[in-house]
Amino acid sequence: MRSTDVKGNQSDKEDVTLNKQIKNRHDIRKLLDDTILQLERNTRFLETKQYLQHGKMSVYEHCIRVAEKSCDIAWKMRLDVDYTILIRGALLHDYFLYDWHKKDSSHRLHGFFYPGKAYENAKRDVALTEIEEDIIKHHMFPLTVIPPKSKEAWIVCIADKICASEETLKRK
Ligand SMILES: [Fe+2]
Ligand SMILES: [Fe+2]
Repeated sequence: MRSTDVKGNQSDKEDVTLNKQIKNRHDIRKLLDDTILQLERNTRFLETKQYLQHGKMSVYEHCIRVAEKSCDIAWKMRLDVDYTILIRGALLHDYFLYDWHKKDSSHRLHGFFYPGKAYENAKRDVALTEIEEDIIKHHMFPLTVIPPKSKEAWIVCIADKICASEETLKRK
């Protein structure tokens, strides 16, 4: 079985996906924290702190919440997912890197087009697996037409909607 390292590079070496190392919630938290650190060091992930998503919440905080919620759903439902991919995809799902609240003609129809922009940015900064691509491109379904294909992408799609609703209600 092929394995995937944190940069998304695949190898035919013995499968060392962190799934096998996930025995409890503590392991998931550790993997999440490590992945955040790695993205902060190797990509423009920290830049997402500058942009607001819902209410006063930054894109950075929102993406971490979505990753936590996605892991929660997978763990509680005992789903056989690749946690490494689930976390990376969730953390990068809104990697569009601009302030969509600012009036700018390129931000028009933001909701329809930004998953493509997020995918382009993420692809430039890390080697994405097919499932990570699926997560980023299709998490806005049904606003965008094509549904997720993988379990991981469906989970992030649902987790994102739960988090977005909570964050939008909280600001009122
Ligand atoms: Fe999104
Ligand atoms: Fe989101």
